[in-house]
Amino acid sequence: MSGAANRIDSHKPLQDLDHWEEFLKDRYPEPEPELVGAGGSAEGELQKEKTWKRETTKFRDYRAEARPSVKEFYRLNHANQTLDFVMSKRREFLSLNHRRMGIWEAMEYLNTLVDDSDPDTDLSQIEHLLQTAEAIRRDGHPRWMILTGLIHDLGKILCLWGEPQWAVVGDTFPVGCAYSDKVVFPEFFPLNADYQIPAYQSSTGIYEQGCGLDKVYMSWGHDEYMYNVTRDYLPTEAQYMIRYHSFYAAHKERAYTHLMNEKDREMFEWVRKFNPYDLYSKGEDRPSVESLRPFYEELIAEYFPPVLRW
Ligand SMILES: [Fe+2]
Ligand SMILES: [Fe+2]
Repeated sequence: MSGAANRIDSHKPLQDLDHWEEFLKDRYPEPEPELVGAGGSAEGELQKEKTWKRETTKFRDYRAEARPSVKEFYRLNHANQTLDFVMSKRREFLSLNHRRMGIWEAMEYLNTLVDDSDPDTDLSQIEHLLQTAEAIRRDGHPRWMILTGLIHDLGKILCLWGEPQWAVVGDTFPVGCAYSDKVVFPEFFPLNADYQIPAYQSSTGIYEQGCGLDKVYMSWGHDEYMYNVTRDYLPTEAQYMIRYHSFYAAHKERAYTHLMNEKDREMFEWVRKFNPYDLYSKGEDRPSVESLRPFYEELIAEYFPPVLRW
């Protein structure tokens, strides 16, 4: 009875796609709310130090705390996301010739993604999308940002087309240049074939200093795909939120600034504003899909045509 039962499927190492995001939540714990407005008081400083200690402990332990399946997921991701792989996926998917459907239809399509999670206790994909959007709406943000919360993860439909998990989700990072040790599990990068190519391993690699992220190829996943599906219809801030929401090394750790230009620096403030809604809005309460639907159908129609190319 050894082996088979415990073996991790290299296509689907994660039992549940959300285990990746749960790992991120452990690595980047939610800032304590009492810190807000604590100013420079002694108590505030003490709290800050406590939080800092707790967070650095978390940082140090993320490897130990990660599920074996999450570790395996990152190993596969870092080993296989080469510049060649990225270019081939861009050719395959960015022609947007896979399907034609509207946004709500895509939400329902994503909802057919079944993993090994428990349908009684875990929220469906649509419920997750609505939670993110509703949290943004509650805080009074503009309508385009609510819409961004709703759609930002729809690129996960790539899983329904047979793409392995490590080519759909996971923190993204630039390919064709040196890997930052601020990317999680950097110890897996030597497994990547690009690691042996000196031209790809200088700090700027195939790019130029300050060239701007638009010229940089990111590891392939749901972010870049969804950005390309929706880019013509959304404001620039929303495009950045969608395109770089999994680029944790940049928006959380401030790595890769040498590739950014002024516009990136400005727009990443919006990516940072978006991240808490992405990472911490997933609560226990089930949003009512049917009662929220009219509001969101109207919002979708405000920005998108009835049918988009996917
Ligand atoms: Fe995402
Ligand atoms: Fe998300």
